[in-house]
Order: sequence, then C-alpha cells, then structure tokens
Amino acid sequence: MNTSPSPELSQFAEEVLRGLSATPKHLSSKYFYDDEGSRLFQEIMRLPEYYPTRAELKIFTEQTEKITDAFTNGADAIDLIELGAGDGTKTAVLIEHFLDRGIDFTYSPIDISQEANDALSARFREKFPELRINPHTGDYFKVLDSLKNGSERRKVLMFLGSNIGNFQRDQAVDFFRALRAVMNPNDRLFTGFDMQKDPRVIVNAYDDSQGVTAAFNLNLLRRINNELGANFDVDKFSHYAQYRPVECAARSFLISREKQSVTIDALNRTFEFEQWEPIFMEISQKYTRAMIEELAAESDFEIETEFFDEVNFYTDSLWRPIAF
Ligand code: AVI
Repeated sequence: MNTSPSPELSQFAEEVLRGLSATPKHLSSKYFYDDEGSRLFQEIMRLPEYYPTRAELKIFTEQTEKITDAFTNGADAIDLIELGAGDGTKTAVLIEHFLDRGIDFTYSPIDISQEANDALSARFREKFPELRINPHTGDYFKVLDSLKNGSERRKVLMFLGSNIGNFQRDQAVDFFRALRAVMNPNDRLFTGFDMQKDPRVIVNAYDDSQGVTAAFNLNLLRRINNELGANFDVDKFSHYAQYRPVECAARSFLISREKQSVTIDALNRTFEFEQWEPIFMEISQKYTRAMIEELAAESDFEIETEFFDEVNFYTDSLWRPIAF
C-alpha cells in the first residue's frame, strides 16, 4: 500500500494545519467539494432560499439571443472556454442556441476534477452530437497557458455561478489579472456576480430552513476526519451564517458548542477549541455595480455589456481586456 500522501492531500493537510493554528481559526471553502460536498451543493442549488442559480439560469434562458450576439460581435468564430463548468445546465442553453444559429464554435470545459469533466463531456456528447468539445483537466492557468496562442479565434472565458464571490478581494483581482495575462485583445471574459440585495434574502440563502447549508459546511469536518484521520465530533459544532451589508459579504462559520480538543493524526497535532469559538469557513461576496466596475478596472478590463435578471439579483458581466 502506498502510504505517502498525494500532492493534493498534502496541500489539503498543510492548509488545514495553517487554518486551525491561526487566530481566528479558519478553513478553506475550496475543500468543501469532495463527493458528498458536491452532492450537497447540488441540493443547495435546488433549495427555495438559494436564489443565485435560478437567477443566473433565467438570464441565460431569457437573454440567450443577446448574450450570443455579444459573444460573437466582431468575431467570425469563437472558442467558448468554461472554468469549472459544474453540471453545465446554463451553458447547455447557450450551446443549443449557438448550434441552432450555425455559429462556428468549440466548447472547452476546464475542471480540476477528471470525474466532473468526464461526466459533463459524456452528457454533452449525447445531447449535442454535433458539438466540438475539447475538455481539459487540470489547473485553470496551466490549461489556459497551453491554449494561449493556439488560434486566432476569439476566446470567451466563462466563470459562472458567482464562484468569484468565494475569493477574498485581493484573490479576485489576482485571479482576473492572471486570466487577463493569457487573453488576446479580441478575447472576452464573462463572469457571474451575485448582487447586493435585501440582507434577509441573502442571509436566508446561506442559512436554509432544511439545514442543507449547515450540512455542507459540517461536511468539511467529516472530510478532515476521513482523509486526515481526525476525530471531529460534528455534533459539537453548529453552523452560523451572517451577512454584513456594509461590506456586502456573507460569511459562514462553524461554532464550537463546547470546550473541546480535536486530534488530527496526519498532522500529528491536537487543536483546542474554546466554547463558542468560531472557525471561519466561507465568504460569499455580493457586489454593487460600482464594485464590479472597480474590480474590472483594477484587473485591466472594461465592462463591455451586462446582463441582469429582472429584479437585479444577479448579473453576468462581459469584459474586454484594456490594451496595454
Ligand atoms: C459556489 N459558491 C458560489 C456558493 C456560494 O453561494 O457562495 C457556495 C455556497 N456556499 C453555501 N451555499 C452555497
């Protein structure tokens, strides 16, 4: 048996060590998505309180024609590249329309998970036999770098689902700048942003009545138990979600309900938790239009077109690189 940790596991272990040694304690929401976490996220997207997925799907279904025009304006052919495609529901709407209009395009989903990519490709190949699909598995930037000077065709990079909201602001700017670095002047970036709205609507989306979001957060403790040999008793932690309207930020925490110790074998360490001590788990940033404009400018882009749903809950924003 190979007992040496895989590079991914060792990075996971390292981040858990850093996060639980810090004050205040924190864990990274990027590790939410093991098999059970991905299943719970699918469930979250169907919850009545979790509006972002439905709002974005509505933009795609009701403004398909306009989005298509914006993508193809000034380009004979496009390479649609999706970062973290998930189950591809929204993209399928666009692809169907592109095919109906006889647009010359290819579709490249990029995902870190081979399994997710295989499942999506199989589904799309069956649904759209005529689609030219080139899935890539791996780190976004490594894959994008390999596609950099591949063709003269316009690349449209899509980063949907308000995934950008799970980055701290500096990380978001670094991410957009890194994308900018692999783009040509005629390429475009299409990003989903969840907008500022009634704080009660937002806080309910992250504290649903069925407790699915709580289970989603607690699942990371289970993952640490399973993969790093820890002994978290998940019943001794509870999920707490808040929304701070001044910062437009929703944050999730797991709160230690009592004073307790947790041992993580893979780290050879025991961590102490005070009663009511929080572990910061996730930020879900919401945006004003001004914040989006500022993010674009700071990352060397300008907004070309924006697509809002009818109640301004959500926007998909098309950016063009500013020429250097
Ligand atoms: C993936 N991401 C954009 C979700 C969000 O809304 O921040 C993750 C999530 N966390 C709790 N509910 C959904």
